[in-house]
Amino acid sequence: MSSDPASTHRVIEPSVLYVGTPVYLVCTQNPDGTPNLAPASSHFALGRTIVLGLEEGGQSLENLRRVPELTVNFPAASQWQHVERLAGVTGRNPVPVEKAASYAFEPRKFERAGLRPVASGLVAPPRVAEAPLQLEARVVRVNPSATGEFAMVEAEVVRVHAAREITVEGTNHLNPSAWHPLIYTYRHFFDRGDEVGWTRKTPFAVVPETIDRWELSGGTWQVVFAGEDHATVELLRCDGGEVAERLTLVDPREVRWATVQLADGM
Ligand SMILES: Cc1cc2nc3c(=O)[nH]c(=O)nc-3n(C[C@H](O)[C@H](O)[C@H](O)COP(=O)(O)O)c2cc1C
Repeated sequence: MSSDPASTHRVIEPSVLYVGTPVYLVCTQNPDGTPNLAPASSHFALGRTIVLGLEEGGQSLENLRRVPELTVNFPAASQWQHVERLAGVTGRNPVPVEKAASYAFEPRKFERAGLRPVASGLVAPPRVAEAPLQLEARVVRVNPSATGEFAMVEAEVVRVHAAREITVEGTNHLNPSAWHPLIYTYRHFFDRGDEVGWTRKTPFAVVPETIDRWELSGGTWQVVFAGEDHATVELLRCDGGEVAERLTLVDPREVRWATVQLADGM
């Protein structure tokens, strides 16, 4: 492959920049006390804060400016049809002019989606019972975007509900292998792919057994190579660090473990 960027890339003008983000269903409270539910994907989370990108003119944003409480419900990839049932509707009545051609008013979003509301513990809007991951949150502030088209809703997550099957029983951890968020990429829905690696902070990285035993007996080790399908690890004696054995790892998860060690040691 050429290293000249002009030959490997081209300048394009895509209509959207939806690179691939999990979909969520945001639940807010309508003026009459009923819940509104809308699909969205723009968001990021850091610490206990979640920031949502919500369009001006939508019922969700209007509701949040009035009652600053919400639930953010993440459906599983297999639940995409429920999301799509809400794709052409708004809780706003009358439907804003710019949306009139492609949206209809729907006051009963849960029924429309074929989903059930379940009461939240700390906030007024209900959660989506079927969503494996449900966040209860309180709005901290709403920042209008520079273009005026949407607002960034900054909210503090006050409670997290996770379906048992996506958690690691007896811990507060979500099981990354069991959780399949619905990914929205350039207007298509995807399941996530296979695990390809992890970061050093994961609580689930398993040290290959031989290396673990070697370390327990007082020895040290160093990863000298980590490639696509194998890795080489040298087991070093505790006295003087001379190489006692050269191990070849081929199990994909062990190769990934070696890749992480090598990357971290750089
Ligand atoms: C998969 C998907 C992702 C969407 N992402 C967003 C988003 O990130 N922010 C947003 O404001 N609207 C998003 N929308 C559009 C809203 O769902 C749509 O404007 C809806 O009418 C809002 O409902 P409401 O007016 O009742 O709040 C998305 C829709 C779909 C189907």
